[in-house]
Amino acid sequence: MRVITDKGDMEIKAVWFEHNMVRMIDQRLIPQEFSIIDLENYLQVAECIKNMAVRGAPSIGAAAAYGIALAAINDDDLTEAAEALRSTRPTAYDLFYAIEHMLRSIELGDEPIAAADMYADQIIERCRLIGMYGASLIEEEARIMTHCNAGALATVDIGTALAPIRSAWTAGRHIYVYVSETRPRLQGMKLTAWELYNEGIPHAIIPDSASAHFMRDGVDIILVGADRIAANGDFANKIGTFDKAILANSMGIPFYVCAPLSTFDFSLTSGDQIVIEERAEEEVTMVEHIRLAPQHSVALNPSFDMTPAKYVTGFITEAGILPPTEIDRVRKFRLEEASILD
Ligand code: MRU
Repeated sequence: MRVITDKGDMEIKAVWFEHNMVRMIDQRLIPQEFSIIDLENYLQVAECIKNMAVRGAPSIGAAAAYGIALAAINDDDLTEAAEALRSTRPTAYDLFYAIEHMLRSIELGDEPIAAADMYADQIIERCRLIGMYGASLIEEEARIMTHCNAGALATVDIGTALAPIRSAWTAGRHIYVYVSETRPRLQGMKLTAWELYNEGIPHAIIPDSASAHFMRDGVDIILVGADRIAANGDFANKIGTFDKAILANSMGIPFYVCAPLSTFDFSLTSGDQIVIEERAEEEVTMVEHIRLAPQHSVALNPSFDMTPAKYVTGFITEAGILPPTEIDRVRKFRLEEASILD
């Protein structure tokens, strides 16, 4: 991704391996500060997933893949490392998918760092294809709405929901993006707006509560990411996604979920089986570390919500665009076979 810093523009990924360390952008500090964290062991990687220095389902997966690779080259117990990494966050399926993938690769004799690098590169390639397929849905002068951050920060590079937006912009289409702020951690306002600013893509941050207002005003398409997609097409994504899906459905606005196949959990028959992460109530009550809520009021902080498949127009994947009823077609699909579904 292109990043504008005090020292000039640079191209950088959200997470990568260099100088025998896992390196990542500290996403907690953006946009105020641009800082890189260096990690030497899997416990540090697990801590960064937990504290959300790295976040977004595919980036969490890549970080975990590098965590397993670090454990392997440091001669740590791989079962313990896998367990520590799995216990960091419960909802994003990519985390579990990446750990299984790495354990299998290492067992087959692959060099651990090369295997993790390949995993991260595959995420980028999947996102490129999502961008290519998704851009076909974005017309000239389109007004697009997105939620949370499903950009390069969330996916090593390029993004899922931001991939079609980047592709359409690069192809010369004049587009405009509504970015909902994404209370309580503000991933939309802090991260997505920063990515769009870096690319020069016209956009505005809107309060989460203004979605209906802007949709009625004329949003052409809604693009969101996903943390876990069940076999029936129900999916979990950042809290507030479900509201947007219902609004879009009632106003006849196409609602697309952009996700690589590593986000599909075919072992779940419905979204009711997805574990929704509950995070600290301070994320809701504290704004910039000042508590604004009355002392004795509690706050509830589900980090994700589950949107039933009936609200989804289509899933934009590296294998093409498919309606929820056809998810089963990609069950055995692998990147090397990528081609548009017929
Ligand atoms: O809690 P976060 O910031 O990790 O949640 C991220 C999201 O909900 C994203 O929309 C999702 O992971 C898709 S990222 C391509």
